[in-house]
Amino acid sequence: MEATYHQPAMVEEVTRLLQPRPGDTIVDCNLGTGGHSLALLEACGGRGFLVGLDLDDAVLLLARQRFRSREIPSRSYALVQANHSDLAQVLGSLGLTGADRIVMDLGASSLHYDDPARGFSLQAEGPLDMRYDRTQGPTAAEIVNTWGERELSRLFRQEGDERWAARIVRRIVARRSERPFETTADLAREVGAAIPRKAWSPRIHPATRVFLALRVEVNDEVRSLEEALAAALEALKPKGRLAVLTFQSNEDRRTKRILREACRDRIDEADPWGRVKEPAKFRDLTKKPLGPSPEEIEKNPRARSARLRGVERLD
Ligand SMILES: C[S@@+](CC[C@H](N)C(=O)[O-])C[C@H]1O[C@@H](n2cnc3c(N)ncnc32)[C@H](O)[C@@H]1O
Repeated sequence: MEATYHQPAMVEEVTRLLQPRPGDTIVDCNLGTGGHSLALLEACGGRGFLVGLDLDDAVLLLARQRFRSREIPSRSYALVQANHSDLAQVLGSLGLTGADRIVMDLGASSLHYDDPARGFSLQAEGPLDMRYDRTQGPTAAEIVNTWGERELSRLFRQEGDERWAARIVRRIVARRSERPFETTADLAREVGAAIPRKAWSPRIHPATRVFLALRVEVNDEVRSLEEALAAALEALKPKGRLAVLTFQSNEDRRTKRILREACRDRIDEADPWGRVKEPAKFRDLTKKPLGPSPEEIEKNPRARSARLRGVERLD
């Protein structure tokens, strides 16, 4: 029975884009419960070596159980609790010099949203936590209860695209002066009450954007993504491929910028003819990002915002 596992998005498209070959070193930067990893190992006939990284020890435990129950030989994988921004160190510690195939599947998994105790869910009452790695960093409650008005407004606007940020923050600050926020439901209620009813979206909970912004901040997702993309590009061997799945516009914009930059020739600024100083090291595999099929969205509505981008190392 595989019901407790995250249902991964666009597995076929990721596999087709990466085309893993027997003998490849494959890195899964967001292991989760291993859906993409297992598909990629299978696609190279079980004759690859997989390195799986995840920040969350509970998720890793499930992935380990799943690999064992699938009887994947332990010599063909290493599952490590690590931030994907530390990819180079992880590869080094395993004695690996690079990777042939790398996949990133960003954000939280359904296991996070489905367990109220993790504090990601808008629907169920739980502690206001939202950390992938529960040994590190501030919780969402610490941010909501201690940050200044300007910092909170900037966060909700910048990372949540929340146009009612100022009103929401005024309400949060007034409320927390009487009693600090402790639970998800408590915060979701106050945020909802701060936004005029007629501005509520019919499709999403009014606190969705604030919750997203808090998750990004709690887990330092902007810095992690930028560093992980740089580390992944650096780790790719010649003809190596990277596939990145994003789920929000900010995440996709940052990914697009970094991958585009990697695929550009360096021009000699001092040359009047603008000749190429250093040719691009990567080739774009997806001129436009790929999205899930209507059939997949029907079966797995959480996949609907997925965008897939890929590059190949040339030299
Ligand atoms: C969308 S899920 C991945 C699901 C996975 N592809 C599967 O098939 O089950 C994203 C995972 O990335 C992990 N994660 C988030 N940020 C991370 C980071 N900076 N470094 C490593 N893992 C991270 C989360 O804990 C979560 O398990």
